[in-house]
Amino acid sequence: MAILVTGGAGYIGSHTCIELLEAGYEIIVVDNFSNSNQESLKRVMEITGASMKIYNISLLNTTELEKVFKRNNIEAVIHFAGLKAVGESVKSPLFYYKNNIIGSINLFELMQKYLVKRLVFSSSATVYGNQEIVPISEDFPLSATNPYGRTKLMIEEILRDLILSDENWCISILRYFNPIGAHKSGCIGEDPRGIPNNLMPYISQVAVGKLKELNVFGNDYSTHDGTGVRDYIHVVDLAIGHLQALKKVMSETGINAYNLGTGRGYSVLELVNAFEKASGKEIPYNICNRRFGDIAICFADTKKAKNELGWEATRGIKEMCADTWRWQINNLNGFN
Ligand code: UFG
Repeated sequence: MAILVTGGAGYIGSHTCIELLEAGYEIIVVDNFSNSNQESLKRVMEITGASMKIYNISLLNTTELEKVFKRNNIEAVIHFAGLKAVGESVKSPLFYYKNNIIGSINLFELMQKYLVKRLVFSSSATVYGNQEIVPISEDFPLSATNPYGRTKLMIEEILRDLILSDENWCISILRYFNPIGAHKSGCIGEDPRGIPNNLMPYISQVAVGKLKELNVFGNDYSTHDGTGVRDYIHVVDLAIGHLQALKKVMSETGINAYNLGTGRGYSVLELVNAFEKASGKEIPYNICNRRFGDIAICFADTKKAKNELGWEATRGIKEMCADTWRWQINNLNGFN
């Protein structure tokens, strides 16, 4: 029996594949490599000394996707595949809805047809919209502010409807806060295409000399130093959270959403400072206007994941920065 991992070559997917293989799971990866690199899976196999089946397939290609279900004995699915850039989603909403929503529906239809009803779904703290109150717990009202966020929210809604129609489904929805860091080996990590949108890859590319300086998007928020506060979580902690969620869907029916964060927030300048210490490099920065759509503070209430999944993040900000730096200096051009 195998675990199907969609989007397994991506940043969070590849780190989760390592944890799954090290825990002895047989895995099958489906990825169209539109925003990832085959090299990441090669390295996953090198690190773990284990192998996996890899299919270069888009979730929009139902004919090919069905063959994966026909040919393999799949027990559960961890569904990462999807597009995730907020700005791009505003420019190309149809592309986002087609890829993320239709791709997910194709997958869920095949799961239903082949009686594979155990699912861990990769959602995001973006489904909490603009919350005024922190920490954010899973029962807060949900909303979205851009097409990317709406795709995550819609898929969550689809899953809640699905389970109402068929109570044999077992679903864990994982709402990620801000994943950063890399595997200890320095061999896999985040490899954004083009200029990074997110803070950590931007900082690390400044540190390594690929980018000149960081633009800090606003220092007039009501936070202790005026810059935005986020709940950064080590990607390996996040990956381990998926294994715990997988155990849950293997043993119980029902649908549950869990925050995966540390429960602690750091400001942009605190992260810059921690990265300077870890890398020994100065990060020049420039304060500029707020980025449209950003909120001041976002961090998780992590009690539910702790109580129900027996999971909590253990890696701190120092380790997140040191591991990102190791990956960055070993791989100046990412996987290329
Ligand atoms: N920031 C900068 N400069 C940059 C990039 C970011 O100052 O060049 C700041 C932002 O203003 C924010 C913080 O750094 O205060 C973090 O920004 P990121 O872009 O790294 O992360 P976000 O919190 O904006 O977004 C992340 C994910 C989204 C997800 C969202 C909600 O990237 O996919 O969290 O949880 F939707």
